[in-house]
Amino acid sequence: MPFKDILLNDGRHIPAIGFGTWKIPKDVASGQVEQGIDVGFDHIDTAQVYRNEEEVGIALKESGLARKDFWLTTKWSGVDDKDPETSIKESLEKLKVDYVDLYLIHHPRLCKGDIEGTWKKLEKIKKEGYAKSIGVSNFSKEDLQELIASASIKPVVNQILLHPYVISSTTPLLQYMSSQHIVPEGYSTLIPLTSKPGGPVDKPVQKIADRLNVKPEQVLLAWSKAKDAVIVTTSSKKDRLEGYLDVGDIVLTPEDVKAIDDAGAKGELWEERRKKLAVGAKWTAAATLVGYALWSRL
Ligand SMILES: NC(=O)c1ccc[n+]([C@@H]2O[C@H](COP(=O)([O-])OP(=O)(O)OC[C@H]3O[C@@H](n4cnc5c(N)ncnc54)[C@H](OP(=O)(O)O)[C@@H]3O)[C@@H](O)[C@H]2O)c1
Repeated sequence: MPFKDILLNDGRHIPAIGFGTWKIPKDVASGQVEQGIDVGFDHIDTAQVYRNEEEVGIALKESGLARKDFWLTTKWSGVDDKDPETSIKESLEKLKVDYVDLYLIHHPRLCKGDIEGTWKKLEKIKKEGYAKSIGVSNFSKEDLQELIASASIKPVVNQILLHPYVISSTTPLLQYMSSQHIVPEGYSTLIPLTSKPGGPVDKPVQKIADRLNVKPEQVLLAWSKAKDAVIVTTSSKKDRLEGYLDVGDIVLTPEDVKAIDDAGAKGELWEERRKKLAVGAKWTAAATLVGYALWSRL
């Protein structure tokens, strides 16, 4: 069963898994995006700051896909202090399209304290047809509340960090977004494999992978799907990309999701304690140094 598109609050449907282009070097970006499209991805996620919009545009042109047959997201990242109106026009030119499907504010700090004014600029971009849908990224619950209080168009998505080691602190945000019909797009879901291997999440993920005869990365992406998130992931490898698309067929049980959530919460708690201990140790070291300096003056 392939992935089913997800309904947004503006009535449009977004493909439930996207191919991300962050950190892909310029010289291989076109090739990797082409590979993603060949494998079956019809949703590409880029950003002004990734500095590869031009290469993404080349890959999309080369693919021969009609404009209506792919979903394209880019983000206003405030590069060179350019405002959203200038940035979207430059992005469209680089991407070689007349519109993007989704335009996001990459981070709330780009609004420099004026979420209301910045969002108005995105609303104008949508009204002028440069973006079919508009949304945000890395917004907290408070940022969203501030935005919604003055918005005439609601953001359709909030693209956020979503992996088991942040799930316990992120759940209130997800619940708020659900109450507002703002769809989560989850990125860096594979962090337990890519940068935190050896943590408590490995065990339940491997156990589920063995039972379902799938790969650990597929279990983690299926976990994101179970959170009703649009998956934003990537790979340089064809077989891995094929495996990601097969996640459409993988359904975790509520017990699987809970086992991963619980292990993630354990890791989050452990991380917090480690940070506190590191801060404590720094203070102790500083106090020892000050003590020694005072003592040596006597
Ligand atoms: N809005 C934002 O602020 C923001 C921030 C970060 C990311 N994003 C978006 O989200 C996309 C994905 O982000 P991400 O790269 O952090 O996501 P990710 O899905 O967590 O990681 C993708 C990486 O995982 C590696 N991988 C897959 N399976 C693995 C395994 N079993 N063991 C070790 N490594 C494995 C892949 O490497 P191989 O190439 O070797 O397969 C790939 O580079 C980005 O490209 C970007 O579009 C947005």
